[in-house]
Amino acid sequence: MTESVRLGDEGVVVLDQRLLPHEEKYVCLTSAAEMVEAIRSLTVRGAPAIGVAAAFALAQEARRLAGLPREEFLACLDEAAAALRGARPTAVNLAWAVDRMMARLRTLRAGDTGEVAAILREEAMAIYRENLEMDLRICRHALEIIPAGARILTHCNAGGLATAGYGTALGAIIYAHQQGRRVSVWVDETRPLLQGARLTAWELGRAGVPYRVIADNMAGYLMSRGEVDLVLVGADRIAANGDVANKIGTYTLAVLAHHHGIPFWVAAPRSTLDLGLPRGEQIVIEERGEEEVLGVLGQRVTPADARARNPAFDVTPAPLVSAIITDEGILRPPLDRALAALAAGGEAGGGGRAAGGGEGNA
Ligand code: MRU
Repeated sequence: MTESVRLGDEGVVVLDQRLLPHEEKYVCLTSAAEMVEAIRSLTVRGAPAIGVAAAFALAQEARRLAGLPREEFLACLDEAAAALRGARPTAVNLAWAVDRMMARLRTLRAGDTGEVAAILREEAMAIYRENLEMDLRICRHALEIIPAGARILTHCNAGGLATAGYGTALGAIIYAHQQGRRVSVWVDETRPLLQGARLTAWELGRAGVPYRVIADNMAGYLMSRGEVDLVLVGADRIAANGDVANKIGTYTLAVLAHHHGIPFWVAAPRSTLDLGLPRGEQIVIEERGEEEVLGVLGQRVTPADARARNPAFDVTPAPLVSAIITDEGILRPPLDRALAALAAGGEAGGGGRAAGGGEGNA
């Protein structure tokens, strides 16, 4: 397992994903403000990973500020939580983890600041451990939909780098390989930031899984030739009707897969479900800077006066999703009913402790 985020003695240690695959460099973030910047810049990225990282950052912030008078300490933590929560808008895991930490804090308002910091550290570690367990359960459930010899197409990076654990979609592929399923992977390069070419390829190589990188515009051709058996991707937020927000380009793949009769699977833990949100069109899609599209890895490739659009995610409508692999099992259509049954039967919000704020979970 790749250790992408860790709560150290001096701060939150993250693997700088901007530098991969060429350099494996860990940086230690000692304040919430530094973590906000790390999340915005994709130093740490992927829906579950930014949730874990934000929880760790709040625990670190509490430790850093524990010498302050109690009222000031609490006000600073409120401010840090708001900044972390707003660092990126689309992945619900971020808001979920911050809200859970702050809900825990609200139960402790009377305590000594040092004790509060210690308890917040425990809560952050609990989020981290639950995240690991959810990943593992997803990997096991996914074996049901990954046949031996499957040629799988994946998009962006939903591996250990993206979850601070084993990974969801990519974790499942690697797990299937470890179980002897002899899978191979088509890795979409995932423009503009190349999470597929840089990160997914790196993780698959380390795990010894056969793969080929393809440019994003090659998927349709491979599907038309019968060279793709299934598509498996992660998610940043799933609405109550089963609409799935994920990396830009996911919707295109889902339409192509539907046209070619290829199963389109989504893997996500319960912390990615936002069942308070009826439909995917209500999901806020992050718009990033034009320069990411106008150049490749910082090198400008377009005319000086060229302009661009850069939506970082898109929404795949539920009817295009064959099933969602969660830590609780595989949810099959109709997804709205399957998600409602999961919410009714299981604990709420990937652990039941998410606080309101309009962005709940299951
Ligand atoms: O912009 P990124 O790299 O954070 O986007 C990540 C994705 O879209 C992943 O597919 C998603 O977060 C799922 S990770 C298990």
